[in-house]
Amino acid sequence: MSLKGKKFHIHTFGCQMNENDSEHVAGMLSSRGAHSSPSPELSDIVIINTCAVREKSEEKFFSLLGRLESIKKKKNLVIGAIGCIAQLYKSQLRDKKSSIDFIVGPNNYDKIPDIITHYWEEKITCTQWNRGWKEFSPSDIQRKNPTSGYVTIMRGCNNFCSYCIVPFTRGRERYRPMDYIIQEVHKLADQGYKEIQLLGQNVNSYRDPSTGRDFASLLEEVDRIPNIEWIRFLTSHPKNFTPRLAHTMKKSRKICRQLHLPLQSGSTSVLKRMNRKYSRENYLKLVGILKDLMKGISLSTDIIVGYPGETEDEFQQTLSLLNTVKYTNIFSFRYSPRPLTPASKLPDSVPFETKKKRLIKLQNEQKKIQIEKNKSFIGKTLKVLCLGRSKKDSSIYSGRNEGYQVVNFQSSSDVVGQFVPVKITQCGPYSLFGESVD
Ligand code: SAH
Ligand code: SF4
Ligand code: F3S
Repeated sequence: MSLKGKKFHIHTFGCQMNENDSEHVAGMLSSRGAHSSPSPELSDIVIINTCAVREKSEEKFFSLLGRLESIKKKKNLVIGAIGCIAQLYKSQLRDKKSSIDFIVGPNNYDKIPDIITHYWEEKITCTQWNRGWKEFSPSDIQRKNPTSGYVTIMRGCNNFCSYCIVPFTRGRERYRPMDYIIQEVHKLADQGYKEIQLLGQNVNSYRDPSTGRDFASLLEEVDRIPNIEWIRFLTSHPKNFTPRLAHTMKKSRKICRQLHLPLQSGSTSVLKRMNRKYSRENYLKLVGILKDLMKGISLSTDIIVGYPGETEDEFQQTLSLLNTVKYTNIFSFRYSPRPLTPASKLPDSVPFETKKKRLIKLQNEQKKIQIEKNKSFIGKTLKVLCLGRSKKDSSIYSGRNEGYQVVNFQSSSDVVGQFVPVKITQCGPYSLFGESVD
């Protein structure tokens, strides 16, 4: 099937790495003459970029697939499954889901245009691993946002946290050559991007493949690129967060005073069982260093409740840590056993109801913290990067402050893509509201 003039739709589940991968795939298809379409119903090709991190992410994929199958009964539709579920369940998907025409794992996206053009009728499964870095379509990225750009700096993960499927779906760490990263950031700056987000499952372990220069050196290089005003990065594993990195952040005027630092649990014994390789004390020490170096730094985190064997006391340790750190935002999950992981071999011993109660308790505690924190912004004027208009009301603009909080605001002129001073007038637990003051 020639791609020329065909319409494609990509639905992305999962993390920012998947989002950026989808932007690359969209770019590759567009450069072969296809056009992106807003809905599966209007498309010739639908690609689902999947996530396998929790059972729920799998369920979401199968439910979307069901919807696409009913569309496929009425019209010609090529369906592709890519991403982490594709890598994990390659043969099961091929044998049991006849509606899927091609299955491509995260290391083989460069082959998608050729698969659609030449081979999809043979039901291709393409899930080979590769050792070194493989550059996908450096020049053909179709980005979702014209102001803030994702830049992938590494793929894979070597950490094998006991609950996590990512090392099995994405493979071992491969680092992108620093030159390519720098070139991409220069290009974004030339295109008018104001913010970049460097992406990897564990950015702190980055090493340039030829020179061995580390993540802090990469940040120093990126910091020198003119016109990019805000730099963010994720995800940082606390065990690899060096004091040198904290000082690099402090020295830079562009690196935002904001950090996503996944905790997972506030209990040292649970962290040990999770194979996280830091203790509650190490984590709190790191938070202390960051807060001392950068006043007002905004921290966010990921937390899992109900890990096998988690006692009430261990859960309380997580709960109490929230009040010590006072995160700006948390992402919290019920533990979900995943295939191939060491934790999935343990009995999933915390009852579902207990996991549910713990999650609600944690989220309520955090909500109180966020309400308190957000109230303290009322009356202050914050620098906000306007990323678009609010989805609910197009007369309202939406952006993020340096701390990566959502700020919705009114403005008399079109400020999309610009930095705007916004005076905060109201707040909720999850966002701030205000008016532009220029
Ligand atoms: N590389 C990142 C995050 C990867 S997955 C890191 O190291 O932090 C994103 C989040 O999903 C994790 O931080 C964890 O909180 C959650 N997660 C991963 N596996 C999970 C599982 N089996 N059950 C519940 N949550 C899980
Ligand atoms: Fe998963 Fe741990 Fe790797 Fe993060 S660091 S992707 S949680 S194995
Ligand atoms: Fe999900 Fe794969 Fe990302 S499992 S979180 S899409 S690396």
